[in-house]
Amino acid sequence: MADHTLSVTVNGESYDEAVDARMTLADFLRERLRLTGTHVGCEHGVCGACTVIVDGVAARSCLMLAVQTDGAVVETVEGLAVDGELSPLQQAFKRNHALQCGFCTPGFLMSVTAALREDNVRDEDDAREVLSGNICRCTGYSGLVRSVVDVAKGRSDE
Ligand code: FES
Ligand code: FES
Repeated sequence: MADHTLSVTVNGESYDEAVDARMTLADFLRERLRLTGTHVGCEHGVCGACTVIVDGVAARSCLMLAVQTDGAVVETVEGLAVDGELSPLQQAFKRNHALQCGFCTPGFLMSVTAALREDNVRDEDDAREVLSGNICRCTGYSGLVRSVVDVAKGRSDE
């Protein structure tokens, strides 16, 4: 039963939607807003594939209820590119071959985007720490580490 009204901003667009109290944020984004770039893997907070940014903080959308984002600003992977131009982190992923099947990629992009805004990534160890909350079943971690270090250092080798 859709018995709650949710007012939320997602990637700069405002939405007022009636939602079931039990609907997860992941399901709301994917099924209601058709923002299917947010992936759902484990559905219990372990893999990080569903990570989005809520009010500036990386959050597992499989563990949040949509109603918890009432009044919030949510960012998903669809909002990273501006006018068709990939974000510096997306460009770094491409340059460093930081994805294989790509299932985990949106979650990594959102976790790292939030972390880089904090400006506390200095070296490879920091990059590994930032990446440690997400799992890649294709195990291509070295490209991910290179990408985070690249962006943190403001490099562009292209
Ligand atoms: S699907 Fe949310 S953490 Fe795995
Ligand atoms: S690229 Fe396949 S799960 Fe990470």
